[in-house]
Amino acid sequence: MKIAVLKETREGENRVALTPNVCGQLIKQGYECLVENNAGYNSNFNDESYSNVGCKVMAKQDALAQANILAKVNAPNDEEISMMQAGTACISFLYAANNPELIQKLAAKNITAISMDAIPRISRAQNMDALSSQANLGGYKAVILGASQLGKIFPLLMTSAGTITPSRVLIYGAGVAGLQAIATAKRLGAVVECTDVRPETKEQIESLGGKFIEVKDAEAAKVEGGYAKEVSADYLQKQKEAVNKSLFQADLVITTALVMGKKAPVLITEEQVKQMKLGAVIVDMAVEQGGNCELSELNKTVTKHGVTIVGQGNLPSTLPQNASELYAKNIQNLLTHLATKDGFKYEMEEEITKGTFITHEGKILK
Ligand code: NAI
Repeated sequence: MKIAVLKETREGENRVALTPNVCGQLIKQGYECLVENNAGYNSNFNDESYSNVGCKVMAKQDALAQANILAKVNAPNDEEISMMQAGTACISFLYAANNPELIQKLAAKNITAISMDAIPRISRAQNMDALSSQANLGGYKAVILGASQLGKIFPLLMTSAGTITPSRVLIYGAGVAGLQAIATAKRLGAVVECTDVRPETKEQIESLGGKFIEVKDAEAAKVEGGYAKEVSADYLQKQKEAVNKSLFQADLVITTALVMGKKAPVLITEEQVKQMKLGAVIVDMAVEQGGNCELSELNKTVTKHGVTIVGQGNLPSTLPQNASELYAKNIQNLLTHLATKDGFKYEMEEEITKGTFITHEGKILK
């Protein structure tokens, strides 16, 4: 089986789907790896590091003309689809529900489209879960970005010139990104509080040294397939009341709250921003899904009412080396599950296959 690895074309994308380390392991398993020139350069992997482990480095069209499998971070563009052979399996983030035209094109070309954002949340698929591996790094980077915008330090500092009190960090959402943000902010010495609609996160937040903000007398979110479902307007109002005191005292606020398949909930309105401390910073990690703060702007840092709001999208791409390392491992684990060096074993009713296959044999499966 021949796997093509391309240079990502999405603007601002620095990651690469497979690293030299993972390519070397796949080659030992019997795969051939065909890597586009400069594919890993922005993730700090040069062509030589690929050829040293036995990859063949070549032009995009040559790689796609031979490949049985295409490994990518982002979905292939029209040019790449036109260069692929019918029957190729394409593994990448696809966000199929938001991209029906793309899915139609892949089905029409008889590409088997396998979506990394559709890995089911079950224990045996954890090592393939690219949403989690990338969110983890995003949570770390959000704290670093926020800290660099703040006019003050995180830790308590006692000096002969006086004592500096620790910064207060408030985090919305204790999923993978939020928990990493708590851990990172605590390591830097901040006082950390967190709110989540899933009450079971209380223990996780506390185990990292954070304080869980309880929303009293409100019905908690239902969870389906590992994802929180939308909560009621009544809950959101009660959450606002419970969290406002912490919000208005916070130096840094990181928002990570997402609801699968829906726009991100608006949790911080302009009215609330107006009441925040002068010089406070919000990093809105949900900005690509519409944002948790009403005032965030995608890929911009804006200052409104004295509060700096960072709306940088695609945070994992700002840590491309580690993000590619983890993503490549996720792909390798999925490949090991789905295929052998001699070909795919299509067991369409198996849970991971069923979850991730979006198109197959010219048909759209979901
Ligand atoms: P996510 O990215 O879908 O959402 C982030 C967080 O926002 C979630 O914790 C959610 O409860 C929270 N949220 C939603 N609406 C909110 C609101 N109005 N206010 C405050 N918070 C709100 O979640 P993520 O990070 O993907 O993971 C959620 C959980 O799923 C994890 O903690 C983990 O337990 C589980 N999980 C299981 C996996 C597996 O078994 N393979 C893999 C990944 C996650």
